[in-house]
Amino acid sequence: MCGIVGYIGERNATPIILNGLKRLEYRGYDSAGLAVLQDGHIEVRRDAGKLSNLTALVENSPIAGKLGIGHTRWATHGEPSARNAHPHLGSTKQVVVVHNGIVENFLELREELAAEGVVFNSDTDTEVIVLLVERFLGTGTSLEEATRQALRQLKGAHGVVVFSALEPDKLIAARIGNAGGVVIGLGKDEMFIASDIPAILDHTRTMVFLESHQMAVVTRTSYSVKNLDGSPVAPQEHNIGWDPVAAEKGEYRHFMQKEIHEQVRSLTDTLAGRVDFDEGTVRLPQLNLTTEQAKKISRIIITACGTAGHAGMVGKMLIEAIARIPVEVDIASEFRYRNPIVDENTVILAISQSGETADTLAAMDEGRKRGAKLWAIVNAIGSQAMRVADGYISMQVGPEIGVASTKAFTAPLVDLYLLAVLLGDLRGTLKEKERKQLVADLRLVPDLVGRCLDREPEIVQVAREMKYIRNVLYLGRGTNMPIAYEGALKLKEISYIHAEAYPAGEMKHGPIALVDRDMPVLAIAPDDPWYEKMISQIEQAKARGGSVIVVATEGDTRVEALADHVFWVPKTPWLLLPVITVIPLQLFAYHIASLRGLDVDQPRNLAKSVTVE
Ligand code: AGP
Repeated sequence: MCGIVGYIGERNATPIILNGLKRLEYRGYDSAGLAVLQDGHIEVRRDAGKLSNLTALVENSPIAGKLGIGHTRWATHGEPSARNAHPHLGSTKQVVVVHNGIVENFLELREELAAEGVVFNSDTDTEVIVLLVERFLGTGTSLEEATRQALRQLKGAHGVVVFSALEPDKLIAARIGNAGGVVIGLGKDEMFIASDIPAILDHTRTMVFLESHQMAVVTRTSYSVKNLDGSPVAPQEHNIGWDPVAAEKGEYRHFMQKEIHEQVRSLTDTLAGRVDFDEGTVRLPQLNLTTEQAKKISRIIITACGTAGHAGMVGKMLIEAIARIPVEVDIASEFRYRNPIVDENTVILAISQSGETADTLAAMDEGRKRGAKLWAIVNAIGSQAMRVADGYISMQVGPEIGVASTKAFTAPLVDLYLLAVLLGDLRGTLKEKERKQLVADLRLVPDLVGRCLDREPEIVQVAREMKYIRNVLYLGRGTNMPIAYEGALKLKEISYIHAEAYPAGEMKHGPIALVDRDMPVLAIAPDDPWYEKMISQIEQAKARGGSVIVVATEGDTRVEALADHVFWVPKTPWLLLPVITVIPLQLFAYHIASLRGLDVDQPRNLAKSVTVE
């Protein structure tokens, strides 16, 4: 969703902001803009479409100054256009704002301001914010106080940055609710503000994250944070370990391809320091889990959205199989609206790459209100999900830029496996010998992933043949049923091909009616406990003229004889198979989209972190 960058310091803000916005392109946007304080007045440049349009505009009509803010907008109120792009200036042209989120009471506020004779220059909800700040500034209050008062009028969730030509020595930033993060980057004689870490990672690793209902006043050399009621806050400074190079494409054509290939490394990092292969034990220190607490858990509810939800579906099977704790998986956008049954022995386990997905955060809030323990598996360091959880497992994958999640899918699969082993161990449901075997099996994972990646040319071949397909039916069973969902999601989100996924056993209850020559079936049938059932499903699809691609274990001659195409995967212990079987499906979706010439990293209508409901 929308991205924010702000700068105050000794350097020219314009290139710093443009570079920061470039780093946020992956979030998805449809217009962009920046405002810089130049010679005492605010200059704004904005345009619809890609950032390159804005860059061209700035080249034709340069602006320079030591204070500025920029924004990439994902339209909610008003079409994507230069007029609706942020930053928005007030009517005095002395205050300017960028904003993430939705002003839920904007019609009301707009009518109120219009009745006072205020003229609007856009169709956005955001414009009311700057007009409100101006209204309070007009009464002689400081920018800090005027912004505080304006923010108090807003309903909804917001990330906001404001500056004024009247007080040119500061930026004001605030966060209300879960409309994405607001992070302050601390430099030497310069400060940065951003919605996301990668935007400012080139300049600093020391960062402060605003919590909901906090506001910061940031000058060139200092910052202070207060609650919106004016009470002071002692902010915590975090040192971010992410490597800025991890946010570069390097030799790859797209971030998604790079991130698929990074999985050998990310899974090695996922195991490092958490698994003792000699002892056959698992450590997850940030979960803060004691034996007594582990024994008290009566139920786990995994809540997440999209790809993270698919990881959760695998997690349910792993935790139930290994730790014997009942697990439910709840789509986060549904959870809070159905009066869920939760008590203090329930754990709500949120999974989120961004840690800022509004629905997932709301589900966590709901769990908290009902007395549950909160855990999170999360990638973005310092994100809201990480901060509000009682304990967390941090994905060790570095920044994920491609909108289609890949390495942030396989890491939580391994994290959930580790969690299942730890819970089984602490609760005494896992015998020592089994535990040691489960832990020993993990050692294989990075290498097995590498062997799948080595087969990329074979997948490219199939993608070439199939790049014009219009529909695909993905089938899987058991732990590979969620992988069918994930494979279908990857294909639809980046190649815009209609892909549906079903638990293979459901075919006979309806979907098999769809199968004919024009409906290829992609069946996940590795060597696992559901293998025979999958073979029978493949035979049924073949009998109806469907062409079949099968994900199968190397050396499987039955599949080879049946299938039109095979994506081979190495033999893998079945509880770890989802980490392996998903790799060819990620590559398949990637190459189809890439061969169709599509914008793989920023697919249409999608945003990397969905910070609105
Ligand atoms: C994944 O490819 C999607 N872009 C999307 O489903 C994503 O997984 C979902 O929005 C959840 O995001 P999160 O992990 O940041 O919470």
